[in-house]
Amino acid sequence: MAKPAGAPYMSGMFDFAAQSDGDPALVYDDLVTAARAVTDGEPDAIANMANVAALLWQFLPELNWAGFYRHIDGELVLGPFQGKAACIRIPLGKGVCGTAAETRKTQLVADVHAFPGHIACDAASASEIVIPIVHDGRLVGVLDLDSPLPARFGPADATGLEALVDEIAARLASA
Ligand code: SME
Repeated sequence: MAKPAGAPYMSGMFDFAAQSDGDPALVYDDLVTAARAVTDGEPDAIANMANVAALLWQFLPELNWAGFYRHIDGELVLGPFQGKAACIRIPLGKGVCGTAAETRKTQLVADVHAFPGHIACDAASASEIVIPIVHDGRLVGVLDLDSPLPARFGPADATGLEALVDEIAARLASA
């Protein structure tokens, strides 16, 4: 089946695959397109987080965890994810996730063992990136990716994931 211009390959209703042969910027283009498509018209934030976590897991290599924490009553609470069972509640300002939430700035951590206060949910994690999700000035939660490889994430990942979150933040915010 021919790939429509500007769209990732889609053979079934929700059957997406990256077409970009590993170029991170192009993989993120495909990811944003797929995430926009699976969340289109769906107001339920949990359903949208679940599908986006699945897409991240499918499109990005060398991950051992990919998913969301939601900002509820002043703390982060585990949301939809792929990977091993994880810590459920993280106070703002604690760990990589809590730091991203409190500062509202992406945290790019090449070596989690060197990050003061890092919360080890999966001992396999070596590097991590956390993107804050803000909609209408309100902290919705964070997107967290972990890798068993040191320095797995770089500036292209930060740019790509920030673009993804920016694109779908409204669909990740509870109605
Ligand atoms: N490492 C994170 C905790 C969440 S898990 O990685 C899924 C942190 O330090 O906030």
